[in-house]
Amino acid sequence: MVRDLGRSLEIVSGFIKERVEEQFAREKRNKDFLDGLLEYEGDGKEGPDRTSDQNVKIIILWTMAELLRNPESMEKTEEELDRVIGRNRKVDEKDIDELPYLKAVVKETLTLSPPIPLLLPRNTMQETKFMGYLIPKDTQVFVNTWAIGRDPECWEDPISFKPERFLGSNIEFKGQNFELLPFGSGRRICVGIALVERVLHLGVASLLHHFDWELGKDVTPETMDMNDRMGMTAQKLVPLKVIPKKRVSC
Ligand code: HEM
Repeated sequence: MVRDLGRSLEIVSGFIKERVEEQFAREKRNKDFLDGLLEYEGDGKEGPDRTSDQNVKIIILWTMAELLRNPESMEKTEEELDRVIGRNRKVDEKDIDELPYLKAVVKETLTLSPPIPLLLPRNTMQETKFMGYLIPKDTQVFVNTWAIGRDPECWEDPISFKPERFLGSNIEFKGQNFELLPFGSGRRICVGIALVERVLHLGVASLLHHFDWELGKDVTPETMDMNDRMGMTAQKLVPLKVIPKKRVSC
């Protein structure tokens, strides 16, 4: 299981590596911020924060688990990929904007399973009144974004996986909508958002576009274990076991 799942991630990493190599081949003057970040990751040295990379993988795996548990959503995502991209080419970064259902699937997964459930600890610099509470100076504050994502006051039928709730909605994960804060908010918001947005959608889209996925023996969508192992990052307690079958010819 570890080997096969590792192989799936290797395939995603292969796409990223390809992109990195393409970027190295480009003229230096064309480089932008994203190229800079990718260039750093691609020069063979350890990145500044390998856990960031880990978070991207965690959320890709949660998305796959949610889709396998919700075959109807899986079908809609694949149908969208077939319609927009067809079966004769790879998914490209510029396709992502044409895939609203896929984007909704990723948002719904980030709502239910934010990879850093309590965000990063922050300190109050001064005494603060907030929602009727008095928070003294120098208090360590954790934002429980995991609980917010499952709060019926914020979301209708919060526990059900319903990407449709994001179709036609303006809710984004850029720190402005407090019901969806997987990357935090304010001045210390995650600086990797722009990169994550691209890699996450491309990763999920590539896995779904290139393979049909089947649950392992003796597991059904109804019996899948979706418990998480809480820590600094929220990973699945029982690892996901799935079998890929080739889908697209390229
Ligand atoms: C799915 C992937 C990721 C998630 C869920 C995530 C989430 C977060 C969160 C919750 C914070 C704290 C924000 C706050 O306290 O308000 C953070 C900070 C940060 N993230 Fe990410 N991150 C991810 C990927 C990345 C990547 C790929 C990079 C780098 C390329 C990155 C770089 C950073 C940095 C440097 C900070 C500290 C920002 C500061 O304190 O000013 N993250 N991230």
